[in-house]
Amino acid sequence: MDKKLNNFYITTPIYYVNDKPHIGHAYTTVSADVLARYYRRKLGNDKVFFLTGTDEHGTKVYESAKKNHKTPIEFCDKNSETFKNAWKNLNISNDYFIRTTDERHHHSVSKLMKKLYDQGDVYEGTYEGLYCTGCEKFLTEKELVDGNCPYHKKPPEKVLEKNYFFKLEKYLPKVKEAIENDRIKVLPATRKKEVMGLFKQGLEDFSVSREKVEWGIPLPFDNTQKTYVWVDALQNYISAIGYGDDKSEFEKRWNKSKVIHLMAKDILKFHAIFWPALLLAAGIKPPEVIFAHGFFTVNGEKMSKSLSNVIDPNQLIDEYGSDVVRYLLLSQFPFGIDGDVKAEEFSEKYNTDLANGIGNLFERIFSLIIKFSEEVIDNNKVNLNLSSLLEEIEKGYDKHITNYNLFEALKDINSFVGILDKYINDKKPWALYKEKDPELDVVLSSLFFGAKRLNDLLEPFMPIKANEVEKYIKEINVLKLRDGLEKLNLFPRM
Ligand code: MSP
Repeated sequence: MDKKLNNFYITTPIYYVNDKPHIGHAYTTVSADVLARYYRRKLGNDKVFFLTGTDEHGTKVYESAKKNHKTPIEFCDKNSETFKNAWKNLNISNDYFIRTTDERHHHSVSKLMKKLYDQGDVYEGTYEGLYCTGCEKFLTEKELVDGNCPYHKKPPEKVLEKNYFFKLEKYLPKVKEAIENDRIKVLPATRKKEVMGLFKQGLEDFSVSREKVEWGIPLPFDNTQKTYVWVDALQNYISAIGYGDDKSEFEKRWNKSKVIHLMAKDILKFHAIFWPALLLAAGIKPPEVIFAHGFFTVNGEKMSKSLSNVIDPNQLIDEYGSDVVRYLLLSQFPFGIDGDVKAEEFSEKYNTDLANGIGNLFERIFSLIIKFSEEVIDNNKVNLNLSSLLEEIEKGYDKHITNYNLFEALKDINSFVGILDKYINDKKPWALYKEKDPELDVVLSSLFFGAKRLNDLLEPFMPIKANEVEKYIKEINVLKLRDGLEKLNLFPRM
């Protein structure tokens, strides 16, 4: 990491409050949480800031509130709570939860919009074209499939209205150059290609306001217009950390941080092109990384209410517990590509990887120590061959996580388990005990060392289980406590 950027700022998209949290939202949020937890261990808590939140303005939210016989703010209050609760249940360690209806956000957006207007980067015009309220997006004829929005399968609305436009075209060459040279890293590589393709197709100035929208932040220089919900939403990333009201917070969290925006590919264009252009216009550095992962289907089908296959993370948490859900989500397919979540195979995966894999290994190691060791076990007598094998895997794990390859990092954990299992099978501590072989001491402390290291690797993914293991590890090393210890049943077989 660049030395000047010694802080780390990671964000998820802010989710629309008209929807309920489902495992699609959970997938991005858990991934961001794993990265935040990993970097907190590496850099220290204070150096990491992790943001998530809810996107609460616009026609879509306004209409949903009406349908539910609620005022927009009542509706937003209630639904943003369901996101907060889902993240609490998944043990998400966000440092802040932003809502675009927050006063602080409102103030920050007004400040930036006024700046862009005053310096001539926002100008008045007329928009005549198509708009999909489902996407909250202006569409071109070219983007339609059989006259429909490709995502919502409905014809977009025809609109003719006064809008203010942002001079995107003026900033495009700079954004393009930054992406080309990886000063803004668009990841994985296929997404960078997609974005470069968008530059080739050509992009025009875009609307930053809407005329007939009730629910939004009025433009500070024309209160008959509301800030376009996407322009409002993108600014959450800076309003949450002091843009407009706290210079020193903003300096630390943005200017001196490596900024990483995580999302799925559906909203890449907004993040990789519009957002950096707005930032450059405002004289703010663009983010360092934009990582857009794939979209997943559930048991081969697109998640949709009509197919009733939308999986609520809370349901899964009730069944498996939050750590297991985190593991099951991230171990489905590589982070970055599209893939299928095989919910029907969850219990098999749980038994193979967790109950019979990681959980069984910890149980094995701890019961060997309890049975065959009468000493303090944390004594640094470690088999060199074993420690170099494990170190090799740890290096791979670090490389994978820092490159956002979370799926591969989980594979590293499984390899780690395999090596320790093999070590037990090869060394047969029970036989060494019988033969009173002095090697037993090294074998047991090596296993203890391996268990501690394995737990470190697990922590960002399964923090609650890792905490349980950590407590157990401490106790097992105190002879007085060891005898009273119950078996650690980390992942009971299902
Ligand atoms: N409110 C905007 C984002 C504004 S960010 C400045 C929005 N919200 S959303 O609720 O629709 O969330 C979209 C995001 O949810 C995706 O980018 C992704 O992070 C997550 N996912 C939703 N469904 C998903 C899948 N089926 N698969 C993977 N991720 C999914 O867009």
